[in-house]
Amino acid sequence: MTRLTRQQKTSLVVGDSYWTTAAVPGIPSITMSDGPHGLRYQPNHGDNLGLGGSEPATCYPPAVGLASSWNRSLIERVAQAIGEEAVEQGVNLVLGPGVNIKRSPLCGRNFEYISEDPFVSGELGAAWVRGVQSRGVGASLKHFAANNQETARMTVSAEVDDRTLREIYLPAFERIVKREKPETVMCSYNRINGVAAAENHWLLTDLLRDEWGFEGVVLSDWGAVDGAVAALAAGLDLEMPGPQKDSRSALLAALDSGDLDEDVLDLSVERMRRLVRRLRSGTVGVDALPVSDSSPHLDVVERHGLAREAAAESIVLLRNEGSVLPLTPGSSVAVIGEFARTPRFQGAGSSQVTPTRVDAALPAFEEIADVTFAPGYRLDEHVDQQLLHEAVDAARSADAAVLFVGLPPMEESEGFDRDHLNLPADQIALIKAVAAVNPRTVVVLTNGGVVTLEPWHDSVASIVEAWLLGQAGGPAVADVVFGVVAPSGRLTESIPFRLQDTPSYLNFPGENNVVRYGEGVFVGYRYYETVDVPVRYPFGHGLGYTTFEFSDLVASGSSASVRVTNTGSRSGSHVVQLYVGPAASPVSRPVRELRGFEKVMLEPGASMVVTFELDDRAFAYWDTLTDGWLVHGGSYAIEIGHNAHDIALTATVHKRGPAPRKLTLESSVTDLLEHPVTGPVLSFAMRRAGGADELGANVFDMVATVPIRRLMRFPGVGEQMRMLPLLLAVANNPVIRTIAGWFRR
Ligand code: GLC
Repeated sequence: MTRLTRQQKTSLVVGDSYWTTAAVPGIPSITMSDGPHGLRYQPNHGDNLGLGGSEPATCYPPAVGLASSWNRSLIERVAQAIGEEAVEQGVNLVLGPGVNIKRSPLCGRNFEYISEDPFVSGELGAAWVRGVQSRGVGASLKHFAANNQETARMTVSAEVDDRTLREIYLPAFERIVKREKPETVMCSYNRINGVAAAENHWLLTDLLRDEWGFEGVVLSDWGAVDGAVAALAAGLDLEMPGPQKDSRSALLAALDSGDLDEDVLDLSVERMRRLVRRLRSGTVGVDALPVSDSSPHLDVVERHGLAREAAAESIVLLRNEGSVLPLTPGSSVAVIGEFARTPRFQGAGSSQVTPTRVDAALPAFEEIADVTFAPGYRLDEHVDQQLLHEAVDAARSADAAVLFVGLPPMEESEGFDRDHLNLPADQIALIKAVAAVNPRTVVVLTNGGVVTLEPWHDSVASIVEAWLLGQAGGPAVADVVFGVVAPSGRLTESIPFRLQDTPSYLNFPGENNVVRYGEGVFVGYRYYETVDVPVRYPFGHGLGYTTFEFSDLVASGSSASVRVTNTGSRSGSHVVQLYVGPAASPVSRPVRELRGFEKVMLEPGASMVVTFELDDRAFAYWDTLTDGWLVHGGSYAIEIGHNAHDIALTATVHKRGPAPRKLTLESSVTDLLEHPVTGPVLSFAMRRAGGADELGANVFDMVATVPIRRLMRFPGVGEQMRMLPLLLAVANNPVIRTIAGWFRR
């Protein structure tokens, strides 16, 4: 292996251009490109805001849509297709998936993220990584970590307690790193508890590498590095974009002054060498086996077909009163809304793809029905009353009215957050006016972030949440509306009645460059279900054109199985959701958490048994006293739900907790009373000494949290507790502790 000079080494850890790394003897350059829902390759220039155009590529549904399919294999197929286009265009590394949690529906980049739930984000993000890397192209898991808003994203400090980080904002990254071995991880712009992600040794080295076993390259988000030396020392291997002359000179100066140990630089050089070797040979991913056949499996037309299939499966049918949908082919339909003619099919920013083609909904509707079209509103948000009147006239005389409404492009994007959840006022007026003249009004929503459905929700018969669906979204909506494809999407995020109901409402987007994650682990349905705040539609909700029932739930502490039956008259798919409700524990926990899901397709009357494996993490919480995962002993609920609110079946399983914590004089009275050895002794002593009956039971409550050492300092008490240290020694005996663990609740 060629020995490299310091000049050559420092050129390797700083990008050579917007999208490439430097070539040095023995290590060729690699090319990277966005993005999560399609390739945004820029051969001759670079920008990270999607303003400068890119080579045409297939634009699939952004994550907000594709994730609503809850279909691991579909997502893997889409990612494989993206990987193939990357190979065709000479791209070695695709910058995705984005798995940041949707902490607030206001986040401008929610269209690019998967869910409010870490389990769904991890499962579906893993499918994406598996798909891209199966084609010999690297993935870049992003944005690590706690990048849950766009406001001041480069400077804000996300103040997140350990337990919330571990249980909500890290698990998707952890699951994907451990199971799919992404070739790279992209660190986020923001600070975490005051320390920039790019210079966060705990995040990039202690956690990501030492604890999770990540062996790939950590690269920065574009422009996320402030101090190249501190970043390298923290575990960041590659600053992007390049070239950053000041970074290289700072690194060389630090080597000369001894402020940077050359071994640290050599470590990153070796990681880069390994990455380049794997990407150039196409041996990437979990098995790092050479890709058997990386020649394109799909051509551009077939990719468009896949985009249409994925779009249809991304659609969530929220409401369908009177089964107005599916519409009858050939019937008269008033298609209303500029979005039907001028589709909005992706979000703005670095993920923005130049599509190979774009199909609007209107022509697809015209092929299958007797259509009258009315634009209804302008996309530039100037209100035009004449357009509204024309739309009402069209709706009045049609069998049904299908209204395409949603968020105009300037309302949401990477780079800024929304400050409300409403549709444009003129669209709300249009919905009400059309619904007033046609009871069979269907609203089709186009939006990257959740919008509130009030106050027009009850006025319309059906609501189709079509999110952003990519270049083939238009015909996909027609496929679902006319029943060519049955809707099977499910919400991966809750739809609240009001913004004020959201758990992060008082702490988003923060102030003075600090955002407190004050809701803790109670994000999304974890909050709404635990504090019983009603939402318009819950996490996991979605209707089809048939119905499903669950039965025969059998559960243990390590697995569960349930039968699902199609009880309707049409074939369809359903997402079987398994939630775990926690045992009573010393920490506050959500009333349920998703721990498994399977999407099943069934013919009318057919049924199948779905089985889930449950590891200890399905029951655990992050224990900040021992800095580890802890399964508290007790009874847990295994719940099978149609969504996070509609739980159909419940079973109870018992989990044995760990041996009792070691007792010390800092332990509280409660710790000792709960311990199988010291509990009976202390309880007896306290009753005898304190005549509890006279003082009443509340004497225990009054001293419950007092450390024993303090209690013993009270006159008369210490004397009576002089044997306590001996008792603690007995209780802490390893054998005694193990036996005690057997008898714990
Ligand atoms: C952007 C985004 C990141 C993207 C990168 C390159 O700012 O945050 O997701 O991959 O820069 O465009």
